[in-house]
Amino acid sequence: MTFLELAKSRYSVRNYLPKPVEEEKLNYILECGRIAPSAANYQPWQINVVRDPDLKKKLEETYAREWLKQAAVILVFLGNHQQGWKRSDGKDHTDIDIAIMADHVTLAAAEQGLGTCWICNFDAAMCIRVLNLPDHIEPIAYLSLGYPAGSTDQVSRHLKRKPFEEIIKFDHV
Ligand SMILES: Cc1cc2nc3c(=O)[nH]c(=O)nc-3n(C[C@H](O)[C@H](O)[C@H](O)COP(=O)(O)O)c2cc1C
Repeated sequence: MTFLELAKSRYSVRNYLPKPVEEEKLNYILECGRIAPSAANYQPWQINVVRDPDLKKKLEETYAREWLKQAAVILVFLGNHQQGWKRSDGKDHTDIDIAIMADHVTLAAAEQGLGTCWICNFDAAMCIRVLNLPDHIEPIAYLSLGYPAGSTDQVSRHLKRKPFEEIIKFDHV
């Protein structure tokens, strides 16, 4: 499979089979996240793997969608703003680093036949309470993870992207 084929095969999965994710596959995709690049290689991140039914139930309340309950795992991407690289004008790169790491995970999961969906529209304050996070740790994104229940949930947005000519500018803007 080429990289383009892999990238095209990933889509936001919002419909999962009631099937656990094998430990080996989970560790593989987490390792793909771990080796992601980060600004100045500061690696200001942590992934909380939420599988425990009680904890998962509490976390699901931070993003009340029925489909999230179907996912075997919720990955919570935590950014450590004390560790993130800051440019001379103060711009904190933690969010960028986390996004790269999470993207590695979505693509690795797709390669393994697993589905993911990015979730940023969760109640962050509630997540902080559920996971008991300190002030400098921000829950930046969740990824639901599990086996996709068919491809019928591929929403029309998938691969509906702006045309190449509109977004790629060679030399002059
Ligand atoms: C940063 C980010 C945040 C997102 N947050 C959510 C979310 O909270 N809930 C959701 O259902 N989808 C969320 N998505 C999924 C997008 O809606 C989806 O990626 C986009 O519509 C393209 O569809 P595709 O992933 O199937 O290609 C998010 C995606 C990204 C990249």
